[in-house]
Amino acid sequence: MVISITACKDDISSVTFKEKDSTLLQQDTIDKKVDSVLNLMTLEEKIGQMNQYNGFMDFTGPVPNVEDTERKFEHIKMGYVGAMLNVRGVKEVRAVQKIAVEQSRLGIPLIFGFDVIHGYETMSPIPLAEAASWDLKAIQESARLAAKEASAAGINWTFAPMVDVSRDARWGRVMEGAGEDPFLSSEIAVARIQGFQGRDLASQESIMACAKHFAAYGFPEAGREYNNADIGTSTLYNIVLPPFKASNDAGVRTFMNSFNQLNGIPATANTFLLRDILKEKWNFKGFVVSDWGSVAELIPHGYAKDGKMAAKLAVNAGTDMDMESHLYVNELVSLVKEGLVDSAAIDDAARRILKIKFELGLFDNPYKYCDLEREKKVMGSTEIINGALDMALKSIVLLKNENQLLPLDKSGQNAVLIGVLATEKNSPLGNWRAAAKENTGVSVLEGMQQYDENIIYSKGPDLTLGKIEFTKEVLINNSDTTGITEAVEVAKEADVVVMVLGEHGLQSGEGRSRTQLGLPGLQQELLEKVFEVNKNVVLVLNNGRPLALPWAKENIPAIVEAWQLGSQSGNAIAQVLYGDYNPSGKLPMSFPRNVGQVPIYYNSKSTGRPSLPSPDFVFWSHYQDEVNDALWVFGHGLSYTEFEYADLSVIDNYSSNGTIEVTVKLTNSGKVKGKEIVQLYLRDKFSSIARPVKELKGFELVELEPDSSTPIRFILDKSHLGFYDNEGNWFIENGSFDIWVGGSSNAALKTTFELNEIE
Ligand code: NOJ
Repeated sequence: MVISITACKDDISSVTFKEKDSTLLQQDTIDKKVDSVLNLMTLEEKIGQMNQYNGFMDFTGPVPNVEDTERKFEHIKMGYVGAMLNVRGVKEVRAVQKIAVEQSRLGIPLIFGFDVIHGYETMSPIPLAEAASWDLKAIQESARLAAKEASAAGINWTFAPMVDVSRDARWGRVMEGAGEDPFLSSEIAVARIQGFQGRDLASQESIMACAKHFAAYGFPEAGREYNNADIGTSTLYNIVLPPFKASNDAGVRTFMNSFNQLNGIPATANTFLLRDILKEKWNFKGFVVSDWGSVAELIPHGYAKDGKMAAKLAVNAGTDMDMESHLYVNELVSLVKEGLVDSAAIDDAARRILKIKFELGLFDNPYKYCDLEREKKVMGSTEIINGALDMALKSIVLLKNENQLLPLDKSGQNAVLIGVLATEKNSPLGNWRAAAKENTGVSVLEGMQQYDENIIYSKGPDLTLGKIEFTKEVLINNSDTTGITEAVEVAKEADVVVMVLGEHGLQSGEGRSRTQLGLPGLQQELLEKVFEVNKNVVLVLNNGRPLALPWAKENIPAIVEAWQLGSQSGNAIAQVLYGDYNPSGKLPMSFPRNVGQVPIYYNSKSTGRPSLPSPDFVFWSHYQDEVNDALWVFGHGLSYTEFEYADLSVIDNYSSNGTIEVTVKLTNSGKVKGKEIVQLYLRDKFSSIARPVKELKGFELVELEPDSSTPIRFILDKSHLGFYDNEGNWFIENGSFDIWVGGSSNAALKTTFELNEIE
C-alpha cells in the first residue's frame, strides 16, 4: 500500500519529526516511538532503512550524470536509504540529510558513517600503537577527541573499534586492532567505545561505535587478506569472541560482520554468529551492518547462487543493514512477497535501525551535527592536537637501550638523522586518514630540529616508488641504491646516528598483507652499511605491524618502536629521543624472529613435548633452524629508569568472598621518574580443556619517582580463573594455578595457589 504524503503527514502527527513537535515524543518510550513510525512504513521503506550507500556524489552541487549516482539520489528521495557512508563535512552532510528529511515521504533522517579509526582530521596513533600504551584512560580520551572532531564534521557513526584479535603479523590489519591478547583487547575495546559513545549517545559530541569484524576476520589463513578462518571452538570462544562480548556489554550500538568465512560459513550469513550468539545469547539490541559489499560476496564465496539468494541468506542470518551491495534494496521486497524472507525479519531489522536514530536524537534534530561554526572551531583545535601528542607519547615502546645510548644528550652531541621516513609528513598519518589533510604530520626531522636546529640529515635510498594512494599497491624500491653512500659518509662523522626505518603508513591496513616481515626495500642494507662505520645507531621504527628484525636486535644498541603515530608523530618521537618524555609502552603483539614462526603468540597452548628432554634429541616441539620464542615478547617495553619486582604473594579468600588477592612490590630503582605497566599472568596448570601456558589477567599502569616503591594489588575472581568450554559456557575448575607478575609476558617472579572450593 502506498500512503499519500498528506495522509502520511496526518498519520504521523504523533511522531512529527518533520514539524519537530517533540512534546509527545518525550513522553513516550523510544520503543513506542519506533513502533509508531514502523506502522506508517511501507515494506519498501522498511527495507530502505536497511540499505546503506557510499556517497561519492556532490550533493552540494548538481548531481553528476552517472547512473549509479542518480539512482542513489533518487533512492534517498524515495525513502530507500537508511544510512550513508563517506559523506562528510557539515555542508555536504546537511545537503544530503535535507534530501532525506524534506523530500522523502516520511522524512526519516539518515545516519552518516565514516571510518574514524584513529582520528578524523587530526590523526592519533594507529590503534595498534595506542594499544601499546596499555593506558585505558588515554585511549578513551583519544576516542573521545576523535568523536568530537568527527561529529563536528557531521559524522554520527564510526566503523570502530576493530576488536579483532590477531596473531599474524603478515595480516596488514593488525594495525587496526589491539594485538594478540583477548583480555587487553577487551579492555581497550571498552575504552574506545566509551570514548566514542560518551555517557550520552544523544550528545552532539558523541558518535555511535561499531564493534567489527564479527567474527574471526583476524584469523585469515596464512595472513592473506580476506582469507577464510578455520578455527576450533576453544579459540573461537576464548580468544576471538571475548572482545566482542565486552563491546556488547559496554553498550556498543552496532556490530559489523566480516568478509571471511568462519569454518565454511561466511560471517555475513552466519546464523550461529549473528542470531544464536550475538542477538540471542548476548541479547544485542543494536543493529548489524554488513562489511562493504559482503552480502554480494556470498556469491564468489560459493555460498549463494545469485544476488537474490545472497540477500535472503544474509537477512535471515541477522545482517540488518547492507553496506553497498545494493542487494537488500533490489531483492528483499520480492523475497518477502514470495515468502522466502519473513516480514518479521524485516520489521526487526528496521526497528533496530530506527531505534538508534531515536537514541542519537536525529528525529528531534536531524541537523544536530551540522553546525558550520562548531565545525570551524573544533577541527584541529588545540585540545585535539594536544590529545594526539599525548597519545603518541604514550604509544612509543623502547625495545632496546644498551649503554644508555638514549636519551640523546641535548648539549653538544653531534647527532645525525638518516632515512627517507624521517622527513615523511604523510606516512605517520597512518592508514585510515581519508579526512586528514595531506602532508600534515610532524616529521621526525621537524621534531628533532626543535632540539637541534642544525641537525644534519641524509635521506638514504627511497623506500617507495611513485604516488602512494589508499586504494593502490605501494611499490617498493628494491634496486636504486642512490643515497646509501652519502648516508654512510654522513654517519662516519657523527657521535650518534638516528635512523628512521620501517614501513610506509600505507603498507599496513586493509589489503596490505605481506609474506616478508623484514625492513622493506633497501633499508636493511642501509642499516648494516651505516652500522659498519658507526656503532652508535639509534633505530627508530615506523611500522604498522610487528617486524622480524633479528639482525637489528643483535647489533643495534638502541631501538625505539614508534609505529605510525599520527599528526604529532615527530614531536612525540623527538621528546622521547631527547629524554623529555620517558617511554612506557609495552608491545601488544609478539615480534617474530622470522616469518616461519608466524602465527606466534605468548598465550599458546603447550604440547605433549614442550621442551628438550635430553641434549641433541630431536623429537620435541621445535624448529631445526630457529628457537621457539619471539624476538620481543608480548608485553615487552623498557624505560629510561629501571623497575624491580619483589614480594609476590597470594592470599586465597576464595572460600570467604570468591577472590584471590595477589600483591607485589614495585620499586623504581633507576635514576628518573618513570611509568611501568605491571602485568599479571596466570596458568591453569591442568584442566578438562587444556589452557594456554600463560594468560594476561590484569595490568596496572604505575608511575614512580626514583628510589621509591609501592605495593600493587590485583584481585582475581571467577571471571579471571575460568574459561569457556567448547559449547561457549563459562566455567571454573579446581586445580593448581601459576601466577607471574612482572614487566612483560616473560615475567620471572612466580607463585602458585590451589583452588579447591569449586563444588
Ligand atoms: C571495509 C572494511 O573492512 C571496514 O572495516 C570498513 O569500515 C568499511 N570498508 C567501510 O569503509
